[in-house]
Parts: sequence; C-alpha cells; structure tokens
Amino acid sequence: MLPFIRSDLAQFTAYKPHPSSDTAEAVPAQFDRLDTNESPYDLPAELKEKLAWTYQQVIETNRYPDGGHETLKEAIAEYVNESAGLASSAFTAANISVGNGSDELIRSLLIATCLGGEGSILVANPTFSMYGILAKTLGIPVVTVGRNETNFEIDLKAAQSAIEQNPNPPIRVVFVVHPNSPTANALTAAELAWLRSLPKHILVVIDEAYFEFSQTTIIGELAQRHNWVVLRTFSKAFRLAALRVGYCVGNQDAIAILEKVRLPYNLPSFSIAAALIALQNRTLLLDSIPQILSERAKLITALSLHPALEITASATNFIYLRLQSNASHPQDATLKILNQKLRNYGTLVRLLSDGLRITVGTPEENSRTLNRVNAALTNLEPQQISQ
Ligand SMILES: Cc1ncc(COP(=O)(O)O)c(C=O)c1O
Repeated sequence: MLPFIRSDLAQFTAYKPHPSSDTAEAVPAQFDRLDTNESPYDLPAELKEKLAWTYQQVIETNRYPDGGHETLKEAIAEYVNESAGLASSAFTAANISVGNGSDELIRSLLIATCLGGEGSILVANPTFSMYGILAKTLGIPVVTVGRNETNFEIDLKAAQSAIEQNPNPPIRVVFVVHPNSPTANALTAAELAWLRSLPKHILVVIDEAYFEFSQTTIIGELAQRHNWVVLRTFSKAFRLAALRVGYCVGNQDAIAILEKVRLPYNLPSFSIAAALIALQNRTLLLDSIPQILSERAKLITALSLHPALEITASATNFIYLRLQSNASHPQDATLKILNQKLRNYGTLVRLLSDGLRITVGTPEENSRTLNRVNAALTNLEPQQISQ
C-alpha cells in the first residue's frame, strides 16, 4: 500500500466492468451481454446520423461543454412531467440536476449528505451495489438490512429499528430502487408507506433507473415530499449507456445543493447532444419496450418449467433466477458453476450470492439463454440441483 493513501482503501477492489474481448479473461468474441440491463438495441442509424451531424456541424471540440445543462434540463423536465401525467409546468429545469451517469449523482448525494462523519446510509440487500461501494470509498458507513425471501420486500421492521437505534453517525439517507435490482420487484404499498413515514432529516433516494420498463413512478408525490429525490438514467431504455447521462429530480433546494457539489463540466458536449436527441425521438426509442416486455414474459414462462429453477415476477427488463433449495449442495457453489457454464457458452449474466440476474435481450439472445440455461443445468452433477 502506498504510504500516502487513506488506510481504509487497502481493502477495496476496483470495480470490474464486464470483460471485453481484449482482456486476458477470455470470453467468446460473440457473447450475449445480458449482465448489465442495457437495452439490447443500439441507437437507430437515423439518430446516429443526426448525432454525427451535430458533432460535425455544431460541437466545437476546443470549447468546454455547456456547464449549466440548461437546454437538456428543460427537455428532461418536459419528459418527466409528461411521463408522470403532470402539468407541463410541474417540474422545471430548477428541479433537475444532470450527472455523468446516475452513478455520479449517487456520489454527489453522498457528498452532500453524509461526508465528514455526518451520516450513514441504509440499504436493503440485495440491491444496486454502487450505493454501498461509493459510500465506502467516501468513508461513509453502510447499514444493511435484508428482504423477504419470497417477494423481496424490504425487512421494514429491521429498517425501522436500524434507524431508531440511532447509529453513530446517524442514518441520513435511505436508498431504494423502484423496481429493485437485482430482484426486479417494484416498491409495495407497505414499503411506500414506510418511506412516507421517515422523518424530514432523512433523505429518501428513489432510483427509477428502470422506469420506462416498469411505468411505475413516484414522481407525482415528489412535490409534497421535500426529503425525497428520484434518480433516472439514459443508460437503459434510452439506449445511451455508452454516453453516461443520468438525472436527479427533486425540490429546488436539494437540486441547488447537487449543483454546488458537481464538477463544472461533468457531461461532454457529445453526451448532452445525444440525450437531447434521445428525448426528441423518445417515441421511436421507447417503441421497443412492449416487445422487450413480451420477451420477458416468454422467458419467465419457459424458465419456470424447469423444476430446478425458481423465477419470480419482474417489473422490469431483467429477471432474477434462483435455484430451488437443495440442502445437500450449497446454492452459491452451484450458482457459480451455472454462471461459469453460461459464460463458456457465450452468455454473460450477473452472479449474485443468491441468484443470477439475466437481462432480457433480443429474441435471438433470449432463445439462446433458454437453451444454454437448460444445457448448463442438464450437465450439472445430479446432486448439485434438486429435481
Ligand atoms: C438501479 C440502478 N441505478 C443506477 C444505475 C447506473 O446508471 P448509470 O449508467 O446512469 O450510471 C444502474 C445501472 O445498472 C442501476 O441498475
């Protein structure tokens, strides 16, 4: 360890993105990337052409980007209002902060709330790992509670008692995903009621990264709840994961703080242009969603037929697959083998301690997923799965 580095960073490992074909970790050149919940569809050629035209004719690469993001924030506010069925003036640019992916906004929220020993965060595992990872890199303690094993609802009793125990530093932020990743369930009425009951000095971050797939949002409630903010991203349904654009919606005071802590030119001009083009052409881009949802239904129905698998309902563009319990063989070991076999066949999925998260891909990818999961299970040692 370098002597000038903060001592707690010694235990950290760098985030490992999924392997590209030029890494030492060999994966087949043509693999199905179903491990990061992106849209399976690239931006349509006509939109890439528009973007290329903007790049050639409008963007001056010697100039800094628009650091205020005003035009983009106005376009986002219009979309947010429209998608929640609100009046066109309900949210304005002053209610929006834009980040280099919503990952950046998560870090800004942590900086604005908990840094300097002022607060801890609460998460219910399994959930999106970056809340915990980013908090720890900032030296912010992470309090974790579990979820119901069947429907993945947050253990609300444990969550409430974690807050009442008043840890040092106290819980300042609760992060939830709606619908949750990796378990694909939307917030229930009980979870929402608990979030509403939280005191005003606790910030509630509702991450709606998958809103366009779930079509459930709490945006309509945001105006009355000044301790709630919503995160969204262009990385999923809007097909711009490569360009890193996310946004936060909240009351003007909270947004003003986020604007204070962000880097001045956090979004490249190209990314700003791409997000604007995506919003202007949202009908075209979001047209693929019904097909993805019907593919999801087919995938769930077909995988549920396998006696070794347990698939739960999904409100989004990925599914969570667990193995039926088999006391004679540890689940995590079998899941690792299954994950490795799928990778060997050419399908990347996300391995978690209790299950596998599989993104819904193109129809061709999904049919390969079905065949490969079945083949991988057939080739497992009989004692590794319960039939
Ligand atoms: C729940 C959730 N939030 C945020 C993100 C990150 O999004 P972005 O690409 O905008 O950083 C992801 C990405 O997988 C996610 O699943």
